[in-house]
Amino acid sequence: MKLGVNIDHVATLREARYRGRDHGEPDPVEAALVAEKAGAAGITAHLREDRRHIIDRDVRRLREAIRTRLNFEMAVVPEIIQFALEVKPDIVCLVPEKRTEVTTEGGLDVVSHEALIRDTCSRMRDAGIEVSLFLDPDPRQVEAAARTGAGYIELHTGAYAEAFDRKRERNVEIERLVAASRQAHGIGLKVNAGHGLNVRNLPLLHIVPHLIELNIGHSLMSRAIFVGLPEAIREMLAVMAGYRG
Ligand code: PXP
Repeated sequence: MKLGVNIDHVATLREARYRGRDHGEPDPVEAALVAEKAGAAGITAHLREDRRHIIDRDVRRLREAIRTRLNFEMAVVPEIIQFALEVKPDIVCLVPEKRTEVTTEGGLDVVSHEALIRDTCSRMRDAGIEVSLFLDPDPRQVEAAARTGAGYIELHTGAYAEAFDRKRERNVEIERLVAASRQAHGIGLKVNAGHGLNVRNLPLLHIVPHLIELNIGHSLMSRAIFVGLPEAIREMLAVMAGYRG
């Protein structure tokens, strides 16, 4: 199981002080290079429509600088689709986006927007970009995802992470993730997962089969404040090493 490091919050910190300026620290690209050196298999960045953290220039610089895979999280809107086609990340992860949300709240509603998502997948594939769909562990969404031409889904682990300290709810969420991953794998989709994961809730997630990559941001950056980013990543990789698929 590989680790994709989400570096959005490095930009969040920079924007807190330097919003609207063309310089400032900390630099998310520098963080990406540090993450790669510490063992990250990929770098994830979300260019939100409101540019609250990552800005266009960051993505272009990441594309040039990193040596692993660039996973570009994006809303399915014309401006960002155009940007992705131009910058050509290795993979895009399509997410729903609301301006008022603090973080991505739910998975993509593929059932209601199947035609648009299918069209976006086909444009990305024509440009040589792989596509992942960020989904709640819902069988109807997984089934619809398989019809869009996306190669991957990323299972939204947020509900699991939120329920982690309530055993009964947590077990329900784990079962949903297990079932969704089995279903997706069975119909030929590759499965990633992410949102709200940390060293405490990760060991139990090992029961979910077929996971290829986890995308983790907030807990890594929070831990990095105290022990540094390389050490935070090493700690996470050590927990992930227990995964048997
Ligand atoms: N995957 C997706 C699609 C996300 O939107 C996010 C949050 O930006 C993450 C993974 C990482 O979540 P967290 O920052 O809670 O680790």
